[in-house]
Amino acid sequence: MKLRTLDGVDVAGKIVLLRLDLNLPMKDGVILDQTRLKLSLKTLQELHSKGAKVVIMSHLGRPKGREDPVLSLEPIAQALETNLQEPIIFQKEWNHRPHASITLLDNIRFHRGEEENDMLFAAEIAKLGDLYVNDAFSVSHRAHASVEAITHILPSYAGRLMEDEISALTKILDHPEHPVTAIVAGSKISTKLTVLENLLDRIDTLIVGGGIANTFLKAMGLPIGASIFERDMLDETHSILEKAKTLNKTIFVPRDANLDPGSRIAEISAIESSEKIFDMGPESVVDIRKILEASKTVIWNGPVGVFEIPPYDESSLEIARIIAVLTQKGALYSVAGGGETIACLNKAGVMDKFSHVSTAGGAFLEWLEGKKLPGVERLSTDVSR
Ligand code: 3PG
Repeated sequence: MKLRTLDGVDVAGKIVLLRLDLNLPMKDGVILDQTRLKLSLKTLQELHSKGAKVVIMSHLGRPKGREDPVLSLEPIAQALETNLQEPIIFQKEWNHRPHASITLLDNIRFHRGEEENDMLFAAEIAKLGDLYVNDAFSVSHRAHASVEAITHILPSYAGRLMEDEISALTKILDHPEHPVTAIVAGSKISTKLTVLENLLDRIDTLIVGGGIANTFLKAMGLPIGASIFERDMLDETHSILEKAKTLNKTIFVPRDANLDPGSRIAEISAIESSEKIFDMGPESVVDIRKILEASKTVIWNGPVGVFEIPPYDESSLEIARIIAVLTQKGALYSVAGGGETIACLNKAGVMDKFSHVSTAGGAFLEWLEGKKLPGVERLSTDVSR
């Protein structure tokens, strides 16, 4: 896919409506992680330095069309100002064209028309600017007014972060260097079934982890003690195993585990009926290292253990470090995505050592499912405007 980018677009003296995803994790008004904000600065700085006035739109949480002070973007305006070292005007009202160099409007989801993709609401927003830039890949799976409808009204372009996301995601799915390995983990196979099916056609090895791996182990007739798994997904899991066999693809399941309670390491065959798999074991990580060393491309979504409870984060952290080292050596092209995966890379201190880290959660998964994302489609050079 070719995007309409900012290359060659004259923005000097114009007001640019910039859609960012500043939906940052927050607690009691305090920002817990600024990754999305920091990655949003590139386009913002470029537009500002080229003489545009920038009006930033974003959502925070899911206020469902009603104003909720807890979900105001005001604390984020302060963080933007600190990162950018430029004054940011925070504007609650949407009814007049801002005059400042950089303005942040309050949560766009305070307005019902946003999630309804309402054309009249989009027309109201459009009055605030001369052109529109979408730099929020992570919300581009939503057909919302500030993502989709507005592109029918204003000349629309992809921001630099959007360009980076699409170029990395196109590379891993459409023209990757083989062998390609995907690591897909998380608690439920049901939420990632379509991802697994779509990836199997494109990759060489699939490594499963977390609750997903438990369901695979169960489907393969192996013991998993008292671990969580999805009984009603066993048929689908069998189908994936069959499909892999037919396509001559490898599905890797862990051969040892770190078991709760007590953090006991054991072979899968030696799990007691009362024990739960909370992480992969070290032997499995040794196998994964070999797979990764033989790979040219890796796609990763989801920590492979109960990452939030140490020491069950160890395998995920070690895998993150292995991928980082191979990437830095130039031996591997690596793309990771999803909120928990980003938290894992941050904890391992390797966030900037992957080829690309997607800030998207749902949008990343929908892309891996092979879906077309409404916000991205509208920025294609095949679509006029
Ligand atoms: C995200 O955090 O994945 C994006 O900001 C989209 O948020 P949403 O799932 O509330 O649409």
